[in-house]
Order: sequence, then C-alpha cells, then structure tokens
Amino acid sequence: MTVWRLKKGADRRIRSGHPWVFTGELAHSAKEVAPGEIVELRTADDHFLAYGYAHPTSQICFRKLSSRSKEKDVLSVDFFQRRLQSAFEHRRAAGWSEFSHRWLFAEADGVPGLVVDSFLTSEQGWIVVVQASTAGMDKVLPNVFSALEELGTQRGGLTVVDAPSSKSRVMEGLKIGEKRVVFGQVRDVYDSDFRFLDDVSLRVDLAHGQKTGFFLDQQWNVHLLKQALKHSFKRPTTPVRILDVCCYVGQWGAHLAAALMSEGKTVEVTTIDTSEAALSFARHNVSRYAGGVEALCGDALEILGTLQPESYDIVVCDPPAFIKKRADLENGLRAYTKLNRDALKLVKPGGIFVGASCSGLVKAEDWRTVLCDASLKSGRVLRHLYLGGHGPDHPVRPEFPEGEYLKCFIARADVPF
Ligand SMILES: C[S@@+](CC[C@H](N)C(=O)[O-])C[C@H]1O[C@@H](n2cnc3c(N)ncnc32)[C@H](O)[C@@H]1O
Repeated sequence: MTVWRLKKGADRRIRSGHPWVFTGELAHSAKEVAPGEIVELRTADDHFLAYGYAHPTSQICFRKLSSRSKEKDVLSVDFFQRRLQSAFEHRRAAGWSEFSHRWLFAEADGVPGLVVDSFLTSEQGWIVVVQASTAGMDKVLPNVFSALEELGTQRGGLTVVDAPSSKSRVMEGLKIGEKRVVFGQVRDVYDSDFRFLDDVSLRVDLAHGQKTGFFLDQQWNVHLLKQALKHSFKRPTTPVRILDVCCYVGQWGAHLAAALMSEGKTVEVTTIDTSEAALSFARHNVSRYAGGVEALCGDALEILGTLQPESYDIVVCDPPAFIKKRADLENGLRAYTKLNRDALKLVKPGGIFVGASCSGLVKAEDWRTVLCDASLKSGRVLRHLYLGGHGPDHPVRPEFPEGEYLKCFIARADVPF
C-alpha cells in the first residue's frame, strides 16, 4: 500500500477527526497515485494516522476511510457491510429506518463520496439508489453492490440502482451517466408508490427523477412542521390553503394535506415547479391527500408575482441550490432574498412560512441575513416555530462542518409590531 506523509504540524485537523487532507499539507507530491488508490497516511515522524483513498489532481487529495490501523480491508465487501450495518443501526435508533430514508451519507457514515438512498415500495421491498461522486468510490462500486446484495438477502431482498448522476463526478475525471438497475425488480424503479414518513405514499420515478430520484433530506423538516400543525388551524372556516414553491413531486404539499385532512380539515394546495415531469407527479401525489390541487409550471419568481398577496395559510419555499461555487455567493444570496420576499408576501398574517436552502456554501449566518432582508422587504416578522436542518438519516458530524448544507427556517409570519 502506498504510504503518504504529512508536513510537520499538518496532522492536527485529521487527528481531530476531520476526514480530508489538502495537497498543500503533504510532505511530497500527490501526483504519483492513481485516482482512487488506497493510501496509508502517516505523520511527519512516521506515526499511523489513517487509511483513505487518494486523488492525484483533486485539491482534496486524501479522503479518510478509517483511523483504525487494524482496519486494513478498507473498500472491501466486508468494509461496506460494516459501514452499512453501522449506518442502519444509527437510523434504527432514531426511529428513521422503517420508511424511505438515506442509508449512507458519505463522510458522516465513514464512506466519503458515496450516498445510498433507500426507498420502501408498497409490495416489492426496498429499492436502493447508489451514487458515487469520487473516483475512489466509483472504482469499488462492485463491492458496494455485493455488500448490499448480501445484506438485502437478510432484509427480504432489494433492488439496486446505480446513479452516476452527481455533478461533482466531472471534477474527478468521471462521466455523468444514466441510472441503471444493477439487480432486482426493474419494473418498480420507473414509476412506483413508495412509503415515506407517517405512511404517506408518494409516486416517484427513481430512474429519471432528479438527484437520486427524491429529496429525502426534507423529510425531517416536513416532520417538524407537522408538529406545529397539531396546534394550528384549529377552527378554519375556509379550506387551509398551502403553496408549495419548487415542489418537485409534491412531498410538502402531500404530507401537510395528509396531516390536516386526517384532522377533518379541508385543504387546497398550489404547487409550482419548472419541471413539467416533476409537476405531473406532484399533481398525482398531492391530489391523493388534498381536496384541491393546482399545478403551475414555470419560473417560481415569475409565478409568485401573479398570485394574490396574503392568500395562503402555509407557504413552503424550497428552491434548488442557487450557489454552487464561491463566485456565485453574492448573486445567489440576492436571488434567495428576492424569492423569499415574494413568497412571504403571499402568506396570510399569522400564517406559516418555511424558507429552505440546500446550498452548502450558504452558512447559517448568511441564511439569517437572507430571511431578515426578505421579511423586512415583505412587511413581515418571522418568529421561528422550529429551526430545521438535517435529520438523523443525514447526520451532522461536529468535526466535519462541510457536511452540513441544509438550512430550514419554519416560522410564523405576522405583520410587524
Ligand atoms: C430542492 S428541489 C425541491 C424539492 C422539493 N421541495 C421536495 O421537498 O421534494 C428544487 C426544485 O425546484 C425546481 N426548480 C428549479 N428551478 C426553478 C425555478 N426557477 N422555478 C421553479 N422551480 C424550479 C426543480 O425542478 C426542483 O424540483
């Protein structure tokens, strides 16, 4: 195994648990390794630090797989089985394993560059979507599939889909490709009903849908908002009106409608998205739970300007990541402010507003500023009901702040006092 040494004093971060090494921290060049090669990392004076995989041209030249010197079988089938098992136990302990959830979340679960999302079908067990975003993970995908096949047999069988769809693959010299079924029940991948939190059933096309097919990260925030609903809209005289901005397949609208309708309230949902394909799933999913559904296809900012101010009881605003690189920060924050300002104008005074951002480069403090500007400009005051973010299937590691990307402010929106 290739051995790399750090410069003197450059081991502090990795010793504190952080999983990355940058090229400037190495005592030598990173250029000699093959992309994804397993490397043993040592201090300047030759003490073992970690096993990981390396890349000769990436700025992050080493990603940690294990800090235990005895765990020499990193990236083997056994290694992936242990990581899958440990991740599963974490989710089970959190009560987050019996419905669709993220099974592996990259660095947080000890598998940098690898995401595994698992979806529970109504009749055919689990479908898991595997997404490798680095050369190190891409080359060992057969081991990931074998580990899943063995664990799947114990869980009654599962279908595995390879999703080479992450945009960051390009930086590692990898191609972006179509999703494909590796093994299992092909039929269910294209158009199936899956079971989510609180037994809500949503139809999704995992093969052609965005990212791994679904945005599992918002399920936690949906769960939080549902807690607030238990105490809101106690005696509505008219239907509860919900606006789901950037709805994808309508998970917010469907969940909120299901919760409110189960308490005997009538609900009308308006959904907005640029994707006609996503919107047709949203129409189907939301209409299963709500009394009325309106699906508006187009740019959210344009559509928001055409809607009646102060006409919705709940507005959820969950746009795509506006900021993908540092150079986008200023323009992206301005775009977030505008969108949230216009969405806030549509909330009835005393209604509920959800403002989310999945841009990792937007830090909690930036998000606070965006919401502050948006509420000032829309003539609203926001008081939080829940500060959302990552659920237990997208664990946050305190030593790895780079893994925390999702912010979600769930608030009551009043007129200023
Ligand atoms: C982060 S996803 C939203 C996820 C969704 N709210 C959920 O919880 O599943 C962003 C969505 O915004 C849509 N989108 C992208 N640009 C848009 C725009 N300018 N106007 C409206 N929707 C847009 C995408 O098609 C995608 O469905």
